[in-house]
Amino acid sequence: MYASLKSIGAYAPKKILSNADLEKMVDTNDEWIFKRTGIKERRIADKNEATSDLGVKAAQVAIKRANLETKDIDCIICATLSPDFLTMPSTAAIIAHKLGISGKPAFDISSACSGFVYLLSLAKAFVESNTYKNVLVVGAEKVSSVVDYEDRGTCILFGDGAGAAIVGQSGDKNKSILSILTGSDGKYGDLLITPGCGSKNPCSQEVLDKRLNFIKMSGNEVFKVAVKTLTKDVIEILEKNNIKASEVDLFIPHQANFRIIEAVRHKLKFPIEKTVLTVHKYGNTSAASIPMAINDAYEEGRIKNGDLMLLDTFGGGFTWGSGLVYFDGK
Ligand code: ACO
Repeated sequence: MYASLKSIGAYAPKKILSNADLEKMVDTNDEWIFKRTGIKERRIADKNEATSDLGVKAAQVAIKRANLETKDIDCIICATLSPDFLTMPSTAAIIAHKLGISGKPAFDISSACSGFVYLLSLAKAFVESNTYKNVLVVGAEKVSSVVDYEDRGTCILFGDGAGAAIVGQSGDKNKSILSILTGSDGKYGDLLITPGCGSKNPCSQEVLDKRLNFIKMSGNEVFKVAVKTLTKDVIEILEKNNIKASEVDLFIPHQANFRIIEAVRHKLKFPIEKTVLTVHKYGNTSAASIPMAINDAYEEGRIKNGDLMLLDTFGGGFTWGSGLVYFDGK
């Protein structure tokens, strides 16, 4: 019994925040943002939309495309750095409830932008151990709720959105989630961090005045480790599975920065035609980035049943992950 990716779905909020809009908010300009990041615009959720609302919309698409009903879902897991609530309930439990699912396990994981690849490793283990048959995995983010729109070093990068997938059973290794590698190194934790409103610095007026409830990033240092790690990751997973880069149909990297993607792509000699890019229109949507990119490629007709995708991600923690995943959807 193998675990396979049966479907993909995504949701991007309607509201667009363009580089021109950001020029009116902080000291920046379209030319700088586009040259340094490749981002033109990003989506922003409505005030009354929470992360779970975005996740539900993506999940509904994924469930429908897998030809399933909500009663067929055995477990719901959500990756997010912008949960509806700081401690509880979990965003996964809220998503399950909004989908009309009760009585099934639901929980969140915290691994920043690497969240979706981490979810796939969990779902694969659940399905291959026969613990659950159909797992709903959701990467959902309202990153705009934890971004400081007075900090030009971060606010230009992030956007909101959600992606979801069904991981189910397959008898065919060549349709399976073949391999997932994940890792972390906490020594880099301070380089990308939301310092306030957790147990270390509980929410207080002082924490809010210092804007410690927002994401802080040492962009340049993160950049260097990201390029190194994302490259190493891919080499490792291809070697481990004895697969050549030329056998991969689509390279789907985390959409944080076009320059990071280009640096990795050039080192690995992946052609641009085989690379999925969404960073220009969504920015960095953290845990939603990879599934939103898979969904874009799917809706553009670039992925068909049996195609081999190479996923590659990196995020706060630091955390990272790569995946060799055959698409088993219709
Ligand atoms: N507009 C104009 N100028 C700016 C802006 C801006 N938005 N932001 C910074 N600058 C200035 C800086 O102040 C600096 O000016 P100075 O030279 O006068 O001091 C200059 O531009 C260069 O700044 P750097 O930070 O060195 O710029 P860099 O080329 O590194 O680009 C960026 C910054 C885009 C943030 C880049 O470092 C990056 O993408 N880092 C990685 C982010 C990432 O991949 N995160 C991954 C995970 S995200 C997650 O897990 C949630």
